[in-house]
Amino acid sequence: MKAISVKEASCLKGTIAIQGSKNTVLPIIAATILTSGISVIYNCPDIIDVHVMCELLNCLNIRTCYKEHTLTIDTNDAAYNSLPYELTGRLRSSVLMLGAMLARWGRAEIGMPGGCTIGTRPIDIHLEGFSKMNVDIEEYGDCLRCKTFYMQGCDFVLRYPSVGATENLLLAACGAKGRTVLRGAAKEPEIIELCNYLVSLGILIDGIGTDVLVIKGTGCIGCSDYVNVYDRIVAGTYLLMSCGIPADIRLTGIDEIHYIRNVLRVCAGLGLNVVRLEHYLHIQSSGIVCPGDFATGIYPEFPTDLLPMLITVLTKAMGESSVTETVFENRFAVVSELRRLGARVNVNGNRVYIDGNDKLTGHTVKATDLRQGAAMVTAGLMASGYTTITDTSFIQRGYEDIVGDLKGVGAVLEYI
Ligand code: EPZ
Repeated sequence: MKAISVKEASCLKGTIAIQGSKNTVLPIIAATILTSGISVIYNCPDIIDVHVMCELLNCLNIRTCYKEHTLTIDTNDAAYNSLPYELTGRLRSSVLMLGAMLARWGRAEIGMPGGCTIGTRPIDIHLEGFSKMNVDIEEYGDCLRCKTFYMQGCDFVLRYPSVGATENLLLAACGAKGRTVLRGAAKEPEIIELCNYLVSLGILIDGIGTDVLVIKGTGCIGCSDYVNVYDRIVAGTYLLMSCGIPADIRLTGIDEIHYIRNVLRVCAGLGLNVVRLEHYLHIQSSGIVCPGDFATGIYPEFPTDLLPMLITVLTKAMGESSVTETVFENRFAVVSELRRLGARVNVNGNRVYIDGNDKLTGHTVKATDLRQGAAMVTAGLMASGYTTITDTSFIQRGYEDIVGDLKGVGAVLEYI
């Protein structure tokens, strides 16, 4: 399954059930390392990153069983081991094993994390926080060795509200002696969900949803089940896609609607009509897109993960638009591929300028990362004729079944 062929869509009509959140469930899976017993995670998406995360747990003698969106994790026989780069290098969230393993065993030796190529993605804030907790860190080749004889709670200021660093330090703080204060912490929904899960395990956390988190560690703890929330980026993908193509769609599974408030606001500005009904969001559009100037930002601003989708849809806008990226320094792979389809798009610094009024023309384009790949599928639906998207395994890292979802609303596309 290396390529997807997409035909231009004249209209999208039907229902899409939004899958469980990738970026919420991955830290929760890492957090189960702190527990002893059997935990069940419901609404767990069937995506490559989840399965690699399970393989990492298996290296620690933790048993996992995935069946029909339910992940059962048995940590009764958990045992320390190092984690090989062959696995850790396959996803970003493998770095969270550090915090969880330090909390449980006071040591962790893991390969460097991988993840989408959207910037340099350093982990200096994670490591600076661990150092403050009295952890010795050694980097050698592709690996990191962390060790502490006495992990100490600390008062730490994150120089940037990194999502991953906040998650990692939260996990480590669960095993630290005394109180840890994280200032300048990320406030993304994924952090709130992780905090709530840790609280359900018996950890005391104050300030949930704010940028100051106070954690009282208690070490290895009991178990708790978790019902995963919907994936706000997948929901945003289909909302933005519906701006660029005439649509009449029901999105189900969106419970915490405030997690996508800003995305809904941007989509409304682009021309999308959204009505919230009891069990679904009803979205309708004429496919006519209004231009505008936009910027990504940390939550609750417009998410960086939807930047490629937004740029793609704006190629059709009736006028000039711009999108400024403020989170990652290299997230513009979408630009060169859109140009192959005939779009007039230019990058200047961290801003992309889009000359609208374009009709894209089908061609062969490449998926270069997860979200850019989803944007290429959208571009294929908007472009005349047929578009082939290669390297689509990136998309399967985070979208459970983008082809099935879109076939369900009448799109013509298939794996080739
Ligand atoms: C998470 O990545 C998400 N990944 C990303 O989604 C998302 O784009 C990002 O948060 C921002 O919302 C997962 O949750 C698995 P960061 P993360 O640490 O944690 C700099 C997707 O498509 N930084 O908040 O890696 C960093 O370079 C993915 O699902 C440091 O300088 O993001 C970046 O510029 C892609 N030092 C900024 O902070 C550090 O130690 C934000 O990174 C850490 C980060």
